[in-house]
Amino acid sequence: MNANQFELIDLAHRLLAWYDRQKRDLPWRRSKDPYRIWLAEIMLQQTQVSAVIPYFDRFLQTWPQLSDLARARDDQVMKAWEGLGYYSRARNLLAAARLIETHFSGVVPKEEKELLSLPGIGEYTAAAIAAIAFGRPVVAVDGNLVRVFARLTAKDWDPSNLSQRRQVRRLAESLLPADRPGDYNEALMDLGATICLPRRPNCSACPLAELCLAFHQGQVERYPAKPRRRPRPVENKIVLVLIWQKKVHVSRRPARGLLAGLYQFDWLSSSALHEGQTTESMLAQMYPGAKISFLGEKTHHFTHKQWQLDGYAVQVEAKPELKTGLWVDRQTLATLPFPTALAGYREQVLLL
Ligand code: ADE
Repeated sequence: MNANQFELIDLAHRLLAWYDRQKRDLPWRRSKDPYRIWLAEIMLQQTQVSAVIPYFDRFLQTWPQLSDLARARDDQVMKAWEGLGYYSRARNLLAAARLIETHFSGVVPKEEKELLSLPGIGEYTAAAIAAIAFGRPVVAVDGNLVRVFARLTAKDWDPSNLSQRRQVRRLAESLLPADRPGDYNEALMDLGATICLPRRPNCSACPLAELCLAFHQGQVERYPAKPRRRPRPVENKIVLVLIWQKKVHVSRRPARGLLAGLYQFDWLSSSALHEGQTTESMLAQMYPGAKISFLGEKTHHFTHKQWQLDGYAVQVEAKPELKTGLWVDRQTLATLPFPTALAGYREQVLLL
């Protein structure tokens, strides 16, 4: 046991005392019926508690027992799910209900491993059901829980890192009170949802503030670690503004995808250059006799990539054979919608 765990030894006691006073009164907390707990956990995947409550109540009025749901018609279940979103959950729920009827004698399985074999049940949901419905000593870890423990221990745990989530799970399970695993899980859920918020956490109301290292360091909002951004791939492009008899060649980008429907100049990938060849010499070869002027470098950042552009104006004598695009005069060029990345080159060409 490390020093921090020693500090946290009192965690469950404080947490459960707070939970007993403050727990949210939620419909799935009024019974230990595994069917109800399973149904709630599926509905709560990616969905707020307040949105789930009316659906949960209606489902149970229509299908009070698991065997009723297993016999339901697919379209009725889909209809009852309407508005809750992520519809594959409804299909999986029904498939799982039927599997439980046929393969588990109509009884929701108790072990995480068996739960994981059912459609729609992943690591979080299996642990939540095993702990809440069956008192298994396991902890369901999601982003909220990683945040709570990252702050308690002032560790840079990253919620999107699977191995770090497992580390958090081991720590949370090492502190689990053997007599109340379900309440421990739901207390942590309530803490993450109502007190230990991503921004502006309410530490003055937190039952664990005294144990919380990040709180003592005055650095609560520093945790959890922000996911590290992967460096954006760079695409090197040579932008060619072809000019023939005072007209400029442009084409329209496809109606879908990046910069959809905007206009652009011609371009080449820098990989078209041979070893040791300069862009100028390549362009001189492609367009003999053309007047070539460098328009400068530009960098443009998109969310997922970066363009590194070298712009050239290429004033040609003979009209090049081009399969697509159109030749426009400068007046028209000024009015066409262009991506910001290329607008600077357009301004320069309008002045040429
Ligand atoms: N989110 C997921 N499971 C929950 C539960 N049992 N109670 C409250 N919020 C939850």
